[in-house]
Amino acid sequence: MSKVEQTLVIVKPDALQRALVGSIIQRFEQKGLKLVAVKMMSLDTAILDRHYEHHVGKAFYAGLVQFMSSAPCIVMIWQGVEAIATVRKLCGITKSREAEMGSIRGDFAMSQQMNLIHSSDSIASATREMGIFFPSESEIFNWKSHIEESVYADDEVI
Ligand code: CMP
Repeated sequence: MSKVEQTLVIVKPDALQRALVGSIIQRFEQKGLKLVAVKMMSLDTAILDRHYEHHVGKAFYAGLVQFMSSAPCIVMIWQGVEAIATVRKLCGITKSREAEMGSIRGDFAMSQQMNLIHSSDSIASATREMGIFFPSESEIFNWKSHIEESVYADDEVI
C-alpha cells in the first residue's frame, strides 16, 4: 500500500522577484497534491542555519544566506501519496540549467543557487524541516479534498 507523506517546500526569493509564485503553486495543484500549510516569511540567519545545517560552512553558504534573505519566501507543506519523491521530481535537480525540461527548475531557471524552490529530500528531512517552519500543529490543516477520489484509486490511499 502506498504511503501518504507531507513535504516542506520553500518558494525562494528569486521566484517572488520573477513573479513565478503562482506558476509554481499551480504545478503542485495540477499534479494532484494537497496544500495543507502555507505562509510568507522573511528568513533570517538563525532559521537558515537550522534549515541548511548540512551546508553551514560550505563555500557557497554565505551567498546562499544572502540570497535566501534578500526577499520573503513562501513556505508550504504539500501532502500526497509518496509526496516527498514526487515533489522532488516536480522541482528538478539543483543545478537548474541541467534540470529536466518539464520540471519547475528545468522550465524556469538557469542557476544552481537561484533555483526557485527547495523541497525536502527524505522523510527524516521533511519531519525536521516542517518542525522548523511550522512548529505549531494549528498551522497545518487536515481538510477533506473533494477531488481526491478522482486523483487516486481506492487502494492507493491509506
Ligand atoms: P536547496 O534545494 O534549497 O538546497 C541547498 C541550496 O544551496 C540549493 O537548493 C541551492 O540554492 C544552494 N546551492 C547548492 N549547491 C550550490 C552551489 N554549488 N553554489 C551555490 N549554491 C548552491
